[in-house]
Amino acid sequence: MGDPIADSLLEHRAKFPALEKCVHLISHSLGCVPAQAKEDLGEFFDLWQTKSITAWSDWLPEVDKAAARISKIISAQPGTMIMQQNVSGVMATLASCFEYTPERNKVVYEALQFPTVSYVWQAEARRGAECVLVPSADGTTIDADAMCAAIDERTVCVPMSHVVFSSAYIQDVRKICDKARSVGAHVILDCYQSVGTVPFDVTELGVSFACGGSVKYLCGGPGAAWLYVRPDLIEQFSPRVTGWFGNEAPFAFTMPAQSYADTVWRYMGGTPAIAALYQSRAGQQIIADIGIRAIREKSLVMTQACIDWVDELGFKLNSPRAEAQRGGSVVFDFVGAADICRELNRRAFFCDHRPNAGIRIAPHFYTKREELDLFFGELKKIRSGTGR
Ligand SMILES: Cc1ncc(COP(=O)(O)O)c(C=O)c1O
Repeated sequence: MGDPIADSLLEHRAKFPALEKCVHLISHSLGCVPAQAKEDLGEFFDLWQTKSITAWSDWLPEVDKAAARISKIISAQPGTMIMQQNVSGVMATLASCFEYTPERNKVVYEALQFPTVSYVWQAEARRGAECVLVPSADGTTIDADAMCAAIDERTVCVPMSHVVFSSAYIQDVRKICDKARSVGAHVILDCYQSVGTVPFDVTELGVSFACGGSVKYLCGGPGAAWLYVRPDLIEQFSPRVTGWFGNEAPFAFTMPAQSYADTVWRYMGGTPAIAALYQSRAGQQIIADIGIRAIREKSLVMTQACIDWVDELGFKLNSPRAEAQRGGSVVFDFVGAADICRELNRRAFFCDHRPNAGIRIAPHFYTKREELDLFFGELKKIRSGTGR
């Protein structure tokens, strides 16, 4: 790969020593662990050990610090983000913000949404929601016009994914947002599959809410999910799924009813998962420092190289070819792909397999071009039965 920008990203590889013991093409599912995460978790532990209860004065500010790191990556204004533990919890918090009436009770999202998100919204049917799932014609893409057609004056919200997890298809968020706004519906953008690899600007997109986690391209491990709320909406909602950290004065221990904070902290629940915030620090920081544009530039070159391999081997490509529609991963299928995937993982060529999609692989900023050849070479060996 002759591109100097792309090559220069390999400077950061040394921060991920685990990469030297595997071929890591799984960042769409679990980003590689930065060595610094161990130091940061050690800092958390030392504070606990040396400061006991007074460690909270160090620990609690980590929520806003983590939120600030993510804000930089997604171009959110200060004071618009909080941290939670996972996207399911964030969605449950947001779902509890809405009321459904006979005139307005629709929840619209794509049929290819990540299941956990769907489970949360399907449960809202008990409170009167009517979920409308927009089908995919080809199992890979979602027609933005079909999404727009489903969104009408009866729509409460559109909890859609930015990049589809099973196909890496980038949805036309702006178009869908414009339609939602025109009818008074709220777009909740699940950015888990885009954050850290596809550039986006939540302010410019105009979404009402955005969320994601740190497990994947952010290389931050589990427990550090985030929620963005458009500034003018922060005080408009009072989530029923709540807790004492959402209170205007948690340490005043007021009873019995919630009195919400007038900041974005009103979307917090109970005690934050502090260790996860320490653990996620290094990955988020490295990504923010590199900048998503450079990461995306390299990702496009590398995913194209993967697509070339898929074509050469005659596999079925189940992710988009066009750059504008292509997220950070490449998905391909063939008979017996699940078994081959298992064997690749056994040999530390890390990838995954999803039903009705196939093998998913994702190069990241730390991936060497030759690792793609190693991966497909290994896959070929296993398939031909000569791969001992
Ligand atoms: C688009 C998307 N949303 C959500 C999740 C996960 O949600 P949670 O943080 O609740 O585990 C994933 C993957 O794990 C995902 O790909």
